[in-house]
Amino acid sequence: MRTIALVSQKGGSGKTTLALHLAVASTHAGRHAAIIDLDPQASAAHWADRREAARPTVLAAPASRLRPELDRAQEAGVELLYLDTAPHSDSAALKVARAADLVLIPCRTAILDLEAITDTAQFLATTGTPALVVLNAVSSYGRDADHAADALHTLTLNVCPVRVGHRVAYARALITGQTVQEHAPGGKAAEEIERLHTFILELVHNITSSHSGVVASG
Ligand SMILES: Nc1ncnc2c1ncn2[C@@H]1O[C@H](COP(=O)(O)OP(=O)(O)OP(=O)(O)O)[C@@H](O)[C@H]1O
Ligand SMILES: [Mg+2]
Repeated sequence: MRTIALVSQKGGSGKTTLALHLAVASTHAGRHAAIIDLDPQASAAHWADRREAARPTVLAAPASRLRPELDRAQEAGVELLYLDTAPHSDSAALKVARAADLVLIPCRTAILDLEAITDTAQFLATTGTPALVVLNAVSSYGRDADHAADALHTLTLNVCPVRVGHRVAYARALITGQTVQEHAPGGKAAEEIERLHTFILELVHNITSSHSGVVASG
């Protein structure tokens, strides 16, 4: 089982959106995927309530239950486990990051988001788990994302070469318990999620259990 955590101290950066989309992409790729929703807001679990399809499984649990839930997922044969976390929660986020093979840090490109990410990155660095910033809700106009990536590289953070655009489809799809791959198949959003999923999967499979894997930078 490979475990991918979505962590960011900043609220609204896209943790839940990316966890759901990546887990559905894994399911569509024929993998047994599941999500543990560790956020008391339980947005991922509410999405699953609205969803008709049974997979991916979404389980809501407090961070204090993380270890037994990880064991249960492993026993259930889950191949790809996504951990959705709450913002503003240092101790829980640290616990989650330590348990994961890879941490994804969704980040918007505005200056307030970039400033906030420094805190997230600094405390995650203490865990030794490879971490990758995923630029999310990127505007199709201007070069904000390029400037954001440059700024993050300057902070020696790893930045995912696949960016996620700002698209209304991401919010709309979730209303009916779907994701963009199901709501608007063949669209730009579905296509970029496919590329993100492929990149993340290759990365997480190359990371050794000792966390010594090199995280690609784009
Ligand atoms: N790429 C995107 N394009 C457009 N809207 C987006 C995108 N990503 C996320 N959103 C929207 O931004 C809002 C916040 O996203 P989301 O809930 O995934 O963030 P979060 O990090 O999980 O938030 P929280 O910290 O509160 O758990 C939602 O309304 C979501 O639909
Ligand atoms: Mg969330």
